[in-house]
Amino acid sequence: MDREKIVELLNQDLSGEIEAILVYMRNATVALREACEAGHELEEIAFDEMRHAEWLSDLIVELGGRPTMTHRELDFGGDSPRDFVRRVIELEKEAIAMYREHISAIDDQKVREKLQHILREEEWHLEEFEELLEELGR
Ligand SMILES: [Fe+2]
Ligand SMILES: [Fe+2]
Repeated sequence: MDREKIVELLNQDLSGEIEAILVYMRNATVALREACEAGHELEEIAFDEMRHAEWLSDLIVELGGRPTMTHRELDFGGDSPRDFVRRVIELEKEAIAMYREHISAIDDQKVREKLQHILREEEWHLEEFEELLEELGR
């Protein structure tokens, strides 16, 4: 796979991270205002997503590309903390599917290792959010 194609895939991953950062931060702010504990979890995980965005941007530049910093139209979910958590569970599942696909498509070892590291964290986020949803009552 040539560098340009890897950069294109990494920019897709980066878009997902940007979307996650924005949705998690917005939902964290609303939840915390309403004194809901879910806000802390959302905020904490938003920081992980920022770190992922930084790693991906770094890889993109190293490969001679430019981080595009685009994202899809934002969907925050419904209006209750439970809705917020349901929405971020969807985003984590999408991220996991995309990272798995990109890890199997990309042959650059350094990039694969970084994506595997991110994937493990996304799997952990999914578990955390699923537990949180149980606590909030489905
Ligand atoms: Fe992430
Ligand atoms: Fe995540």
